[in-house]
Amino acid sequence: MLLPSCFFPGLALCISLAEATGLDPIGNLCSRWYHQSQVKNGVLYIDGGIQTFSDREPFDNPAAHDDRLNYSGLVILGQRDNYVIAVDLSKSWNWKTNISEVLINKTVALGTSNSIPKVQSGALFHGTPDDDQVYLYGGVTPDVNTSFADWQAPTTNQYTLWGFNTKSHEWTQYDVVLGAPERPSWGASAEAPEQGLAFYLNGQVTNLSSAADKQGNALPDNLGGMVVLDLVNHEATNTSTDSVDDGNPRVRGGMVYIPQIGNMGVLVSLGGATGMDASLRPVSLSQVNIFYVESSRQTESTTPNDGWYTQMITGEVPSPRVDFCLVVVSAPDNSSFNIYLYGGWDPTQTKYFDDIWVLSIPSFTWTKVYEGTLPRFAHTCHLVGNRQMITVGGINSTNLTGSGCDWEWMGVAILDLSTMEWGSIFDSNKTPYQVYEGISAVIGGGPDGGATKLLPDGGWTSTLVANLFTGTTNNTAPYSPKSGADGVTDNYFHIPSKTNVGAIVGGVVGGVALVAIAGGQCWWFSRRRRIAASAAAPTYHPEPPGEDKHQSPLGHQQSPHTHYEVTGIPVNELAGNREASELDGGHPGWYVEAPEQGGRTGPWHAR
Ligand SMILES: *[C@@H]1O[C@H](CO)[C@@H](O)[C@H](O)[C@H]1NC(C)=O
Ligand SMILES: *[C@@H]1O[C@H](CO)[C@@H](O)[C@H](O)[C@H]1NC(C)=O
Ligand SMILES: *[C@@H]1O[C@H](CO)[C@@H](O)[C@H](O)[C@H]1NC(C)=O
Ligand SMILES: *[C@@H]1O[C@H](CO)[C@@H](O)[C@H](O)[C@H]1NC(C)=O
Ligand SMILES: *[C@@H]1O[C@H](CO)[C@@H](O)[C@H](O)[C@H]1NC(C)=O
Ligand SMILES: *[C@@H]1O[C@H](CO)[C@@H](O)[C@H](O)[C@H]1NC(C)=O
Ligand SMILES: *[C@@H]1O[C@H](CO)[C@@H](O)[C@H](O)[C@H]1NC(C)=O
Ligand SMILES: *[C@@H]1O[C@H](CO)[C@@H](O)[C@H](O)[C@H]1NC(C)=O
Ligand SMILES: *[C@@H]1O[C@H](CO)[C@@H](O)[C@H](O)[C@H]1NC(C)=O
Ligand SMILES: *[C@@H]1O[C@H](CO)[C@@H](O)[C@H](O)[C@H]1NC(C)=O
Repeated sequence: MLLPSCFFPGLALCISLAEATGLDPIGNLCSRWYHQSQVKNGVLYIDGGIQTFSDREPFDNPAAHDDRLNYSGLVILGQRDNYVIAVDLSKSWNWKTNISEVLINKTVALGTSNSIPKVQSGALFHGTPDDDQVYLYGGVTPDVNTSFADWQAPTTNQYTLWGFNTKSHEWTQYDVVLGAPERPSWGASAEAPEQGLAFYLNGQVTNLSSAADKQGNALPDNLGGMVVLDLVNHEATNTSTDSVDDGNPRVRGGMVYIPQIGNMGVLVSLGGATGMDASLRPVSLSQVNIFYVESSRQTESTTPNDGWYTQMITGEVPSPRVDFCLVVVSAPDNSSFNIYLYGGWDPTQTKYFDDIWVLSIPSFTWTKVYEGTLPRFAHTCHLVGNRQMITVGGINSTNLTGSGCDWEWMGVAILDLSTMEWGSIFDSNKTPYQVYEGISAVIGGGPDGGATKLLPDGGWTSTLVANLFTGTTNNTAPYSPKSGADGVTDNYFHIPSKTNVGAIVGGVVGGVALVAIAGGQCWWFSRRRRIAASAAAPTYHPEPPGEDKHQSPLGHQQSPHTHYEVTGIPVNELAGNREASELDGGHPGWYVEAPEQGGRTGPWHAR
């Protein structure tokens, strides 16, 4: 059980700046961004990132302060990353009154004198459900304030994978250098926890990635390949992504895992940018890349395109962006898989987003479901409590010390994905997800699923994608889930005969290495059974009154079909890239105001 070290209503203890150990990452938090986070066994873990800190006025009656915490004094920029923060999700809470956030010292590294990495922009993976550890992978040492007291120099790249035992709080280093020598950061990550597999797509190394890497003023490099981590055996392999990134690896995009498609599920990668700094080119959201997970488990490369396929998306799409977050949630009947994209920004146009778009699969339609006025980027988010999205941290401008403190002063917020209502209350007993009406208005069906739009407008982009979703090579056949022998709804990637393979590959992509077929007809090795996640239906508790809301979802105000106007730089659809822009964005041109006493802006305003 977690014991709150900082329990609101406010104890002076957790608000004081002048604590012996220095700035309290909870009580002095002003903003946190580019951190890693993960939810495991009813606890949200937050690791690393960059923070600003400030004094908070002690107060005894939070209600009297409405939505604003009164900050005063300096805003100090740094990284107090020698803790993991644990947020209890086993009980309901209101972040304004009784959330429990605990610091866990990052001190116990088992059997090594190596320092536990203090990094930003890496990944915190879940691991298998029966494993007590979560896993910190990749990341880069923050350089916003290297004179900050807790600043730690980059660590060895022999150990880019670390396990954090959520029970004993001990850290264990793992050597995956043979499979993946670099410590990547700014890549997209996703995970298939039931299979013990985690994925880290592309990313970057800089002179702050590791002790051995890129000394001095060496420029950063974007990395090709997708690292596949086996979190059971603690091994890495690095699979080629040349067929999707064409020598232009991506950074700062997003990726999700959808278990129900294909024998071992698929990854869907979207957004982000190629290039870096002055040449950052946001990737168009009119296409997504799909990775067939089973291909990564095959001992020989027998899958075309290294397992990667592209699907184009027609209709209105969100503006290209980086540093957003994604959660994916299935319709109750698995007739649609809805990827919620929240926030982000476009550094090439200095545009900050406070919107939510949903990419529904298999229809591959983008639907705008929310727009507000309080942008957020460099945050993380997770699906929690059946149908809620918890968002963690983020920032709203590059003026790091001059933009006020996060009005979400405990660093979290909650969105009900079925009603699109924002609030400060996490309900551990919410009923299971139902499809938001703004989504079913576009894809058909209703709250329980029953989507009728089962084919992308314009059809499947290739017969490979068609095969993945329909089991046929018919580019206009609808999505067709297959009922497995076990009765569990299951999709299939049809096992093509030798002749079909030629037809499929030849019909789609020129220059693809032809498939080697072992043992006659089968591409695929024996199928692994997925463990069906049990979703017990909990009792329904109505929302407590008095919860504040972000702005109403769009569906309540305007047509859910209202889409965001894509403006500005023309999009090169084929490459998925925008034209190069001269504006800085990769290593963002952060502004840092000279700290000054008093006269500071307040927290970001509450909704
Ligand atoms: C914030 O603190 C300042 C200085 O103590 C005080 O003057 C001001 O009234 C406070 N504002 C709120 C909203 O509590
Ligand atoms: C927080 O307060 C609400 C009622 O206001 C209660 O239902 C909930 O259990 C409390 N949570 C914790 C963690 O104390
Ligand atoms: C955490 O570490 C700090 C020093 O960094 C120490 O003062 C404190 O007692 C530690 N807390 C726990 C719970 O071990
Ligand atoms: C950087 O850290 C130092 C030491 O903690 C602090 O004095 C300084 O104000 C910080 N810089 C900024 C811009 O906050
Ligand atoms: C993965 O492989 C690519 C291509 O060989 C390489 O550039 C990249 O550095 C590797 N990734 C890691 C994390 O080592
Ligand atoms: C890393 O390289 C950049 C230029 O690419 C330079 O500005 C920075 O000072 C270097 N940092 C370190 C720690 O060497
Ligand atoms: C950053 O914010 C401060 C305080 O709001 C403001 O005075 C300053 O002009 C801003 N700097 C930039 C570069 O926008
Ligand atoms: C492809 O599927 C569509 C929709 O089911 C069907 O109308 C069409 O006849 C099919 N084409 C072929 C060649 O089977
Ligand atoms: C939906 O997919 C999940 C995960 O594979 C599975 O556990 C569940 O039984 C499926 N639901 C239906 C109604 O098929
Ligand atoms: C960020 O929040 C601050 C404080 O509320 C506000 O003054 C500023 O305008 C916001 N910036 C953007 C880009 O929305």
